[in-house]
Amino acid sequence: MARCHGAANAWRQMTSSGTGLVQVSYGNLLGSGSRTRVCVRAKRAMSAFDMGTAGLVRLGHTFEMGPASGLVQWQATLAFKEIRLSLHEHMTRILTAGLAAPSADNRHTIRFQVISDREVSLWGTSDYHTASYQRRALAHVSLGAVVENISIQAAAIQRSVHIRLNLESDPSRPLLGLLFSEGAGSHADLAAWIPERHTNRALAFRGPELSAMERAEISAVVTADLPGCRLAWCGVDIDRSQVLRLVRVAEAERFRVRNQHAELFSSVRFDVGWKRTCAEGLPPGALGVEPFLRLPFRALSNWPVMRTLNLLGGHSLMGVRAGQLPCALAPDVAVVLAPDDSPASLLEAGRMFQRAWLKLTSMGRAFQPFAASALFGLRANDAVEPEFRARARDGWRRVTGEATPVIVFRTGFAKPPMVRASRPPLIDHILE
Ligand SMILES: Cc1cc2nc3c(=O)[nH]c(=O)nc-3n(C[C@H](O)[C@H](O)[C@H](O)COP(=O)(O)O)c2cc1C
Repeated sequence: MARCHGAANAWRQMTSSGTGLVQVSYGNLLGSGSRTRVCVRAKRAMSAFDMGTAGLVRLGHTFEMGPASGLVQWQATLAFKEIRLSLHEHMTRILTAGLAAPSADNRHTIRFQVISDREVSLWGTSDYHTASYQRRALAHVSLGAVVENISIQAAAIQRSVHIRLNLESDPSRPLLGLLFSEGAGSHADLAAWIPERHTNRALAFRGPELSAMERAEISAVVTADLPGCRLAWCGVDIDRSQVLRLVRVAEAERFRVRNQHAELFSSVRFDVGWKRTCAEGLPPGALGVEPFLRLPFRALSNWPVMRTLNLLGGHSLMGVRAGQLPCALAPDVAVVLAPDDSPASLLEAGRMFQRAWLKLTSMGRAFQPFAASALFGLRANDAVEPEFRARARDGWRRVTGEATPVIVFRTGFAKPPMVRASRPPLIDHILE
């Protein structure tokens, strides 16, 4: 696309490069003398999950610069945005799909650097680089889900992805590089389910159970090209009651110990209320808390209250309500297993987990992950008391042998939640 040579031109090209999902209008040129101020206002007419080029227009963006060279620079800025919008429409789709992936606290700690329409680097944010082992492990699983969404969305537009892993804790290097090329990728049929996938925390999921054929089909889809990891179905491949016990004890620990309690509630956005969503963090309305328990639940976020209740066994009760009961009331529970706990294996497990989630969504099934029981048994997880960690590891070893459990999930049928977590605009995750 040609660069634009004047304000009016720039404006016309900007609107024509839009997809109709966004309305852009710019105010008059204000001021004179040493400063010229141009306001470009973009009004979003789409939800956070809509895919399209509009995501690259920053809302309420104000360009400020000097009048002569500044105007040229301003034109260049608009033209640049416009060129990116038109050149990288596919890229916008692909990265929007990446951002739609789940993350433990609904906060992706990565940024995309678009190097060309064939190459993207993923960088860790400062939150990623300063995170505890526990948070970093969750970030690696979430990163796997992002990579899987990107790979599936790319396949849907006839591109395959080559992944260059780095995953070191060196902030001067990207976590991974993605190279796109023309050619058939895998699992393109799952792309349609990326915007539909969500967490459902309804207390009970209805049956019927997955049939043996359905389980085999899911296992085949999720292990194709991810040879290191596998799914273990409770009651079929591994002991269900042992897994439920491990989930209960770990969920109780999140309410018993101060640092885990702080971690748990730090991501809950009570400020948005019970009816609204939020782009980062967990909207309370998505947590599946019954209306009559909302006030007491909020009170539990106060550590002195929780600590006092724990003297009467409050944490044990929460372990049953938050972990054991939902799993017991679901027709199917499974565990994602990895060969070890290295960052690369956690990432691969995250890819498998996300693929399973999309596949089950395509079958009309609700889905909820439970991360704590596996996470608390990871060797290097220093956020957990050593005795607890050792007990969790022993417990899992009896169930899954040498394989490393990464995450548990339950699935079945349930009404969709009234409130779902949202996502920030894509541009907030793009490095210029
Ligand atoms: C690694 C990982 C761990 C998660 N752990 C839990 C969990 O223990 N309990 C839970 O209810 N949801 C869990 N989730 C779901 C996230 O909270 C959820 O994906 C996020 O809030 C975004 O919401 P969405 O899935 O509806 O898009 C986890 C997700 C990921 C990727």
